[in-house]
Order: sequence, then C-alpha cells, then structure tokens
Amino acid sequence: MQLYFNPASPYVRKVRVTAHELGLSDRIELITLSLTPVSPHDELRSRNPLGKIPALITDDGAVLYDSPVVCEYLDALAGGHRIFPVPGGARWTALRRQALADGIMDAAVLIRYEQAVRPQELRWQSWVDGQFLKIRTALDALEQEHLESAFDIGTISIACALGYLDLRFAGEGWRTRRPRLAAWLGAAGQRPSLAATAAPAA
Ligand code: BEZ
Repeated sequence: MQLYFNPASPYVRKVRVTAHELGLSDRIELITLSLTPVSPHDELRSRNPLGKIPALITDDGAVLYDSPVVCEYLDALAGGHRIFPVPGGARWTALRRQALADGIMDAAVLIRYEQAVRPQELRWQSWVDGQFLKIRTALDALEQEHLESAFDIGTISIACALGYLDLRFAGEGWRTRRPRLAAWLGAAGQRPSLAATAAPAA
C-alpha cells in the first residue's frame, strides 16, 4: 500500500497511528508531498479529486480517502473491530469523538493556512477568532469526558488533534485549564504508535 503523506498533517497521523496499532505500518510506503489549498499537487489530484491527504492506494490499486475511511479500511484489513468498536454504544462514542477531534483539526488547519499562507492584507481576525472558539469549546467538552485507556478511533483522533495543537499552536496553552486532558495525553503519548509518528518540530 502507498500513503500520500505529510509529516505535519494530523489527518495523516491518524492513519499512521492506526496502522501502527494494527501492525500494518511495514506494509505502507509513504509518498511524501507538500501542499496547501493554493499549491495543489497534480499527482495527488489525479488520485483524489479533492487533492487532499491522506489518500491510500491499496494493494488492489483502489484509492481510498479521507482519514475516517482509510482508518476503517485498515481496521477491516487487520480483521475488524480492533480500532472501530463493534456496533453499539462504544462505537457511537468512538465515532462521535472522532468527529469532534477531526473538527478541532479542521479549525486548527484553517487557522494555520490563514496565518501562514494567506497574504497579510487579506487576513480576517474575526474569522480566526471564530475557529479558535470552536477549538476551545471542543477542548472544554473533552476535559469533561472520561477518556478510557482503550485506544480506539476516537482516542486516536483526539491524541492526533492535541498533537497538532502542540505542533502549531503551542503558545495557546491548551493545557492550562484542562489538567485531565493534559494528563491523559501525557500517558497516551507514551504509546509507541504516537511516539513513532510525532511530527518533527517545525
Ligand atoms: C501543516 O503544515 O500544518 C499541515 C500540513 C499538511 C496538512 C495539514 C497541515
């Protein structure tokens, strides 16, 4: 399998952590690329019309995207229901947490593009503030959750979202009013899958 990859992408990290947890990392070749919404990548667009990562080329030559689909595919390849719980309450909790964490990533990546890619004179601070509000509200909700030690698609996604905040927005100090969430990430971060996939400091 081949995975279109950028080390900073939290969505790609979800896939890599999932593969690592499932023992599939060695079967995935990483194709490194650099892209932003204003510098699309032609080869990637020929595979994924949205031009987004992650995109996985399976051993059968099929193309799968985006991160929820690729992670569920890998889970099925490894026998099923190891990272995505069986139908029932635990599954809905994991999928909701994945949605919440992906929403944090979406807001954070949009802010990153606004601050690092958009020309200075076109930047819109109220819009950035609105994205930060989504992130803070989501983090406050996560602080109230009882994040079990079980590592499923929900908790993998949360760990990758928090890792991206540490990578790009360390100065925002998300841990300050969220000691339980910070302690949870401190413990989860010891897992080999998270340690092996951390983005190099920019
Ligand atoms: C980043 O550099 O922050 C980034 C790169 C790829 C996807 C998303 C974010």
